[in-house]
Amino acid sequence: MDGGVGSLVKWNPLANVVGIAVWSFLRTMDVPINALHSQGFVSIGCEPCTRPVMPGQHEREGRWWWEDAKAKECGLHNGNVNGAANNAISEQMVEVADLFMSRSVSNLSRGEMETLVGKNKRSKSSLVVLYAPWCQFSQAMNDSFNAVAEKLCGPDLMVGKFRADREQKEFAQQALKLRTFPTILFFPKNSTQVIKYPSENRDVDALIAFVQAFQ
Ligand SMILES: *[C@@H]1O[C@H](CO)[C@@H](O)[C@H](O)[C@H]1NC(C)=O
Ligand SMILES: *[C@@H]1O[C@H](CO)[C@@H](O)[C@H](O)[C@H]1NC(C)=O
Ligand SMILES: *[C@@H]1O[C@H](CO)[C@@H](O)[C@H](O)[C@H]1NC(C)=O
Repeated sequence: MDGGVGSLVKWNPLANVVGIAVWSFLRTMDVPINALHSQGFVSIGCEPCTRPVMPGQHEREGRWWWEDAKAKECGLHNGNVNGAANNAISEQMVEVADLFMSRSVSNLSRGEMETLVGKNKRSKSSLVVLYAPWCQFSQAMNDSFNAVAEKLCGPDLMVGKFRADREQKEFAQQALKLRTFPTILFFPKNSTQVIKYPSENRDVDALIAFVQAFQ
């Protein structure tokens, strides 16, 4: 208040109020709320910087998540060797071990991916990871995705992988909206919809919760 002309006073009336108290006030007083809250959006900011969170995730994972130091995605052109100068080399020439080799994970061909995104309703649901084996965040989910496949794959659900770098990159960008590796997609049965896994938490429980949300 003594800062002189142009000084700024900030008042944060809710700074010391916990979320549960806010919610009980809203319910008690019957205050209208943003409809997105009932769709899993816990913390709502601007349109492009807001996304829903999964049960058990921190609300901040739904907003400004890229400010989190542990951003967990690779650009489509990144390689696994130091620095950008080596990207072309690493992508074409350095062979790294393939991922998701569990027998429960189907290795999908381009044709099978085209069918999944085609115009016909699917007879079975599918959970598919679009990956590049050189991306460390694809590597980091190798174990959890194998485990999820072993747990969930069956007559109602196919769990698959599609290597989407190199000659498949353009197709994946266009038909599957691939922007970063890894991208996990759910293709619900009896539908032509494609749902992108919204979180960077790729552990077994989070992935299973995601799939079960559609059953
Ligand atoms: C997976 O499928 C792709 C494309 O059909 C093929 O090039 C690749 O060798 C297969 N990988 C394995 C491990 O079978
Ligand atoms: C991926 O995980 C499986 C176990 O789920 C393991 O046997 C395999 O060695 C792992 N591959 C890589 C490249 O880390
Ligand atoms: C498939 O979806 C349609 C609506 O899009 C619905 O009428 C039909 O009952 C569904 N069939 C099955 C087997 O779930």
